Amino acid sequence: MKGIILAGGKGTRLYPLTLVNNKHLLPVYQKPMIYYPLSVLMLADIRDILIITTPQDLERFQTLLGDGSAYGIRLQYAVQEKPNGIAEAFLIGESFIAGDQVALILGDNIFYGPGFTPLLRRVKRQLKGATVFGHRVKDPRRFGVVEFDDQKRVLSIEEKPVEPKSDFAITGLYFYDHNVVDLARQLKKSERGELEITDLNALYLQQNRLNVELLGRGYVWMDVGTHEALNEASEFIRHIEMRQGFKVGCLEEISYYMKTMSKKDLLRHAGRFKNEYGSYLLDIAKRQHVQQYWEEHESRREWIENAK
Ligand code: DAU
Repeated sequence: MKGIILAGGKGTRLYPLTLVNNKHLLPVYQKPMIYYPLSVLMLADIRDILIITTPQDLERFQTLLGDGSAYGIRLQYAVQEKPNGIAEAFLIGESFIAGDQVALILGDNIFYGPGFTPLLRRVKRQLKGATVFGHRVKDPRRFGVVEFDDQKRVLSIEEKPVEPKSDFAITGLYFYDHNVVDLARQLKKSERGELEITDLNALYLQQNRLNVELLGRGYVWMDVGTHEALNEASEFIRHIEMRQGFKVGCLEEISYYMKTMSKKDLLRHAGRFKNEYGSYLLDIAKRQHVQQYWEEHESRREWIENAK
């Protein structure tokens, strides 16, 4: 399976912060925003990833993340000339996807919750058609909204409805089978001039091939598009990291845990940062207990997967 991170757009709601900076490179506590969606794809064990951004920002992403080999993944880059809509990612990424299955994540989406890694891997393994994730929100009018019947079967999905039929928003993480490019080609621009991801999901729904996984109340999902949300996200990550002593979205840690980074390379990474981030990486490399934590996590994952 391939992965795509969409990190284009103008970020107008974040002006003046995003007048010259790409939104997805802004800090969310200690890390650039894009680390969080990238870590989601890495935890799903997706190693071929395309980052799509604007022509003017491409180089900054390449400077930050390179070809991905430092994290045991393969990164490629592509340009979206204008924000023509989220579903355009599949037309831009057609040759990269090359008939494979693909997971798309929006570059401003942050996920945190128990059992997220096993959930991602199950969705990936059992994928048929499309799978999206629903999460209850207070103001569904800002999102794609999914409606269910009492058997939890999907009845409808609508983009930013004025009168939402449920409180379940569709998050910015989508898994698709190999038909996605063909279906994306059938889309027409919406009234606001975009190829809508919700229209693509509606095509899967028409074919009865749209699955929705609900993320329970123990999950935190944020879409970081406003000043308020950016502040909240930073505060949330800081809080979790300070309380638990574990970082969220730490690419080096995930790569080490996935065994795509050696201890030697982890120590080299640690040496690049003369701050708390560097000390954290050093701690992971030195201390047995962190490795043990991951091993326990891994065995719990296997236990959950085998139980299904
Ligand atoms: O975050 C989840 C929501 O994301 C979904 O519930 C909605 O169904 C979906 O349409 C989308 O809504 P947003 O209003 O949040 O989309 P926005 O235009 O803010 O773009 C989301 C991210 O994708 C943002 O980081 C910028 C990037 N983007 C967006 C568009 C339209 C691009 O890179 N290119 C684009 O053309």
